[in-house]
This record gives sequence, C-alpha cells and structure tokens, in this order.
Amino acid sequence: MKVAVLGAAGGIGQALALLLKIQLPAGSRLALYDIAPVTPGVAVDLSHIPTAVEIEGFSGEDATAALAGADVVLISAGVARKPGMDRSDLFNVNAGIIRNLTQQIAETCPQALIGIITNPVNSTVAIAADVLKQAGFYDKNRLFGITTLDSIRASAFVAELKGKQPERVKVPVIGGHSGVTILPLLSQVAGVKFSEQEVADLTKRIQNAGTEVVEAKAGGGSATLSMGHAAAQFGLSLVRALVGEENVVEYTYVEGDGAYARFFAQPVLLGKQGIVERKPLGTLSPFEQQALDAMLETLKKDIIQGEAFVK
Ligand SMILES: NC(=O)c1ccc[n+]([C@@H]2O[C@H](COP(=O)([O-])OP(=O)(O)OC[C@H]3O[C@@H](n4cnc5c(N)ncnc54)[C@H](O)[C@@H]3O)[C@@H](O)[C@H]2O)c1
Repeated sequence: MKVAVLGAAGGIGQALALLLKIQLPAGSRLALYDIAPVTPGVAVDLSHIPTAVEIEGFSGEDATAALAGADVVLISAGVARKPGMDRSDLFNVNAGIIRNLTQQIAETCPQALIGIITNPVNSTVAIAADVLKQAGFYDKNRLFGITTLDSIRASAFVAELKGKQPERVKVPVIGGHSGVTILPLLSQVAGVKFSEQEVADLTKRIQNAGTEVVEAKAGGGSATLSMGHAAAQFGLSLVRALVGEENVVEYTYVEGDGAYARFFAQPVLLGKQGIVERKPLGTLSPFEQQALDAMLETLKKDIIQGEAFVK
C-alpha cells in the first residue's frame, strides 16, 4: 500500500504522517507532499522511527512524485480557521487548492481512494468530484470527505457526560461537516439514555466543537492533533479494506443516492474498490429527523457553491 498525504507539513499533516508511520502495515509506503520546503525534512525526521514503513517527502508546486502509484491520498492542504471565521470563510483559498491537487491526482493516480480533510468539506468534496468528472475519472465509490473527527469528538463528550469508557462509546454522525449540518444520532448510542435537554446541549456542543478548539488556540489555528488522529483512523480503515479486511464500516461524507443531498455523511461498508455498500441511517428520533430536515438547505447550498466553482 502506498499512502500519500498532501499538506503534510501542516498541523494536521504532520500529526497524520506520524500516526501513519507508526500504524501502517509493515511494507507500506508513505509519501509526504506540501508546498512548504520543510516537507522532505519532515520525512527524514519520521524516517528515524523504526517501523517497516518507507517514507519520502516532496515539496514545491508539483505533487506527481508523491502521487505516483498511490493507493490512498489524504488531503489536508489549505488554510485553517482563525477565531471569528466559519469554515465557509476558507472557501476562496481552499477551493483552488483542492481543484489543483485533484487535477494532479486525475493525471497521476486516478484509481486512488481520496480522503478530503480540507475545509469547507461540504464544498471541497463537490469540487474534487466535479474535477475528476471533467477529467473522466470520477468514481463516487472512491471519494470521501473525512468527517471522523465529528464522531470521535461526540464519543469523547458523551463519555465525559455519562461517565463511560471513551474508547467504547460510538456515536454515529451524519449530514455534513459544518454547523447545523453536523448531526449526531444520540438516540443510536448503545447503552446510554439522554434527557431532551442533554440531547439539545450535546448536539450543539458537537456542532460547535471545532470552534471550541479555534477559540482555545486563540489565533494559532484549528484542530490538528485530534484531526490527525481522526484522519489516521479513517485512512487506516481505507487501507484495511483495500487489503481485503471485511466489515470495515465508517461514517463519511460521500455521494449517495441523493435522498437528502448529492453528498451526505452516512455509514458505508468499505472494500477493495472503495465503497461496497451505503448502509441505512437507522431509526431517527423526532428531534434528529427535524434537525435533518432543517439542515438540508444549508448543505445543498454548500454543495452548489463547490459545483459552481468548477463550472
Ligand atoms: N475535516 C475536518 O474535520 C477538519 C478538521 C480540522 C481542520 N480541517 C481543515 O484542514 C485543513 C488544514 O488544516 P491545518 O491545521 O493542517 O492547517 P495548516 O496551515 O497547519 O497546514 C496546511 C498545510 O497546507 C499546505 N498547503 C497550502 N497550499 C498547498 C498546496 N497548494 N499544495 C500543498 N500543500 C499546501 C501549507 O503549506 C500547510 O503546510 C484546513 O482547511 C482546515 O480547515 C478539517
């Protein structure tokens, strides 16, 4: 397996690269790419960790060397939020970066599974999809918006509130990856009951969790370490599915059947070709159903913004 990380010199990229260097299966290759000149040095640094994962780093305008032969490409290239900013404020800069990098993927490794971290995810995934489509290489089973951070945050918050073991709490999160489009399905958390007030408060906290970090970092950026962990978890799931492990299921923002919006975060079964099956959302509580209905206008607008950019 070869995994390429684009944006690898950044806060998320470095954390992600570290976790992959430690956790990828023996014999894997890890390629780091970023426009920042420090990137080959990040790779040299990580190469001193004694695991059987070969690592290389590339910088400059051209990602081809990192992308050549990649099975999985994880993208965190772009700018991050500062206090007072919404994820949508990043659109103007990050849209062009995603377009450029996706064009390079289409030219170099069009069969790779692509995971997008760069915000606003609701729009950047639509951009990547339509750039790949224009190039004749779009496969909706191979492109993912990484929303894993919403699920792991939700696990941490629920465990904290209910005194549970955090590693054991799993919270499905559907919809998109910003504000009201982030919808945790607290009614589906096994073995935990919530009051109406707890559901309302927790939902809001999970939706605003990114802003909690942005404000706490006071101008120093957004979530990088928890996101690095989330992206590593998701990327490793893609790798496990590619090498034939069965029953690998992740919640991720993908093009589905369009029942709610063209792209929608939902549970998917992963396999050697990417998504094997889009799984049902399960039963929603009346609160969740109402929140789902209420988010769709925002989510669709975000998607249209991405589509319009490519046009
Ligand atoms: N999906 C999520 O849940 C989630 C969570 C947190 C942050 N994010 C997003 O991830 C992105 C990265 O965040 P970060 O904290 O790592 O930011 P950062 O500024 O620390 O790192 C971004 C890196 O991208 C690089 N870069 C910029 N343009 C590039 C290009 N054209 N090609 C290659 N590399 C390029 C920069 O040199 C930098 O090293 C942001 O858009 C942020 O909003 C997503």
